[in-house]
Amino acid sequence: MSMLEGAPWLLAHKSMLQTNQPMKISLYGKDYVIWKDRTGRVNGLSNVCPHMGAMLSEGWCNVKADGSSAVVCPFHALEFDQDGCTILPGTNNKTLSQLEPLELIVKDNFIWSYGGYEPKIPISNILEKIAQDYEFIGSTADMSVETDLRSMLLNMHDYNHQNGTHRDLFEITEVRFEKFIDNGYHSEAFFNTPTAPKTFWQKLKQPNQFLIPNVIQAHLENYFPSLVIFHGKSPFGKIAQCHLFVPESLTKTRTYVLLFGEASNPLAKLLKNKFLGLSKTVVEQDADILNKIYSDAPQKIKLNNEIGMDWIKNNFSTWSESVKVANNIH
Ligand code: FES
Ligand SMILES: [Fe+2]
Repeated sequence: MSMLEGAPWLLAHKSMLQTNQPMKISLYGKDYVIWKDRTGRVNGLSNVCPHMGAMLSEGWCNVKADGSSAVVCPFHALEFDQDGCTILPGTNNKTLSQLEPLELIVKDNFIWSYGGYEPKIPISNILEKIAQDYEFIGSTADMSVETDLRSMLLNMHDYNHQNGTHRDLFEITEVRFEKFIDNGYHSEAFFNTPTAPKTFWQKLKQPNQFLIPNVIQAHLENYFPSLVIFHGKSPFGKIAQCHLFVPESLTKTRTYVLLFGEASNPLAKLLKNKFLGLSKTVVEQDADILNKIYSDAPQKIKLNNEIGMDWIKNNFSTWSESVKVANNIH
């Protein structure tokens, strides 16, 4: 099992952080606290207080005159600045850093990290481009799933699971796969899936159905390993539904959605929360099935249209090989 060390992970969109409110982030089996100060600067440190191990993310922030802020431990109220230095009671001097920093790369509103590893692939600027062209609708479905990164990604690139995992939502009648463009760590998949016809009254009973077109024209743009963008059209306009993945540990993977939209219909603005709710339902259903599979079971049957999953498997195995080669050299 690999967590693909050396890949960039999007930890959050800035809007997910409330100003001066510490938040816990897990990456590669370690916990960190991140917080945003009044000036918009985002800081990241180990979450483990060096005094007696309290979780700093459970504490609060102390705001300085210049707008920066320090994180305060909830146990004995020691205060750590953005570099992890503190002033012990009874002294006037700042200590050296007591906390391992989490290196963050903030691009526009997007907070990325390599979790302290040597970067192996660059950070794409696709999200900044989307943020320019679309309106940011919001984030949703932030959850930690008891599954490994590879199983999580396989699920995301599985074009056949709508009728199992998402059966009550989509009722897809078939998957018409068009093409898959494999450019190494970037790929694109195009397919469309007619949905079972619904009467107005059926839709009224399940109002989510109003958001789902008769034929879902799907265009997935994939940035291995941390991002999948579902470009979709709905009766109300274009959407870019960005699915993010973060390996919290070998057996826990976090996922969340950032939703962007381009409204072609004034109604769309009113439906923002409905779209967020629909994304949340989809991710919850995926999380549910991921808790119900034997992820190490050998695959003895292969279906059509597993090309996205093959792309994931292939990238995983070449990633580990290139790491092995690097280790042998040293
Ligand atoms: S455990 Fe953090 S100040 Fe004591
Ligand atoms: Fe799914």
